[in-house]
Amino acid sequence: MILEKRIVIDLNDHDSSWLIPWVQRDPDGHVGEYQSTILMAEGPHREYSVTDSIMCAKRPELTPDQASAFSHAHKNGFETFFVDSGWMYLYVDVRKCKVTPGDIIHLQPHQQHAMAFMEDVKYRGFFHDLNSLDFAEIAQHLKDKMPEAAADPEFQKVRGEVGGMDMIMRERPVYKEVPTEQVLAVRNPDRPYASYEFPGCSVGIITTRWENAGVNEMICARMKKGLSVTWNPYPRERELYYVRHGLAEFTVYGEKHLAREGCIVNIPRFAPHSLRALEDTEIYDMGGKPYWFAFLQDLEAIRTYAPERLKDPEELEKLRRKFGVEVCSLSFEA
Ligand SMILES: [Fe+2]
Repeated sequence: MILEKRIVIDLNDHDSSWLIPWVQRDPDGHVGEYQSTILMAEGPHREYSVTDSIMCAKRPELTPDQASAFSHAHKNGFETFFVDSGWMYLYVDVRKCKVTPGDIIHLQPHQQHAMAFMEDVKYRGFFHDLNSLDFAEIAQHLKDKMPEAAADPEFQKVRGEVGGMDMIMRERPVYKEVPTEQVLAVRNPDRPYASYEFPGCSVGIITTRWENAGVNEMICARMKKGLSVTWNPYPRERELYYVRHGLAEFTVYGEKHLAREGCIVNIPRFAPHSLRALEDTEIYDMGGKPYWFAFLQDLEAIRTYAPERLKDPEELEKLRRKFGVEVCSLSFEA
């Protein structure tokens, strides 16, 4: 895909959003996962890569530990999963914990991980530096052109080897069960690393740049109904947002788009845009190109130690330029 032109991708509607659907079955035919690629990766760090899955509840006859056999780590790939329904166990680095809706799993390379899904789980995946997802589109092309070749075990073997290049398969984990809050791989917007308050908007730091090899970072903005956000006229980076709750109206290229719970908003580089929260809305920046945490830390420092500097609009402008923040105004009308 040379340019992804969809602006709002509604994951509630599989017909329009699930472009490359795939079903993972056990050898006896039991379905473990329904998955689709949503957006293909871009650039040397394979950013903006998104999948959506329904992870199927484990078979009732298996214990969670028996159902967690797919233990692995990644050589280079970073995986971030939003758990948006159902519940599961996560086994990560000798720990096991419960993961429930609202939680976010952030896995870095070389972290051993396995999962047991206790109910069907809506599992939204965002990735970078994970090249194995690059092959979904071209494999689908083979399937469209030559269904018999795509079903050939020889192709399945090659596909598995090529797709599995980033994987390190691991033994079943030996673990200690601990409270979820003690597992660093599980994030939650109610427990941000840091948070910053603005009229009508609270910004939480969910993953930092040093936890993403410097490639990006993730914030959660909890916006009150009536908040408006504007950006520089022609932003330098592509932007990707996940609307987890609420309803927002994005204006992109002068056209209005509604984004409700479960929508991805994909804004091409240079596209003029703005947003307005039509309800209380929770939005995540999944492109994560601005140095949000450094910007917010330094802004807070100026607000705390030298608030008079902010009377000069050039001060804020300099800070925005320094950290690549292209949001240029927040306004709130309750
Ligand atoms: Fe993984």
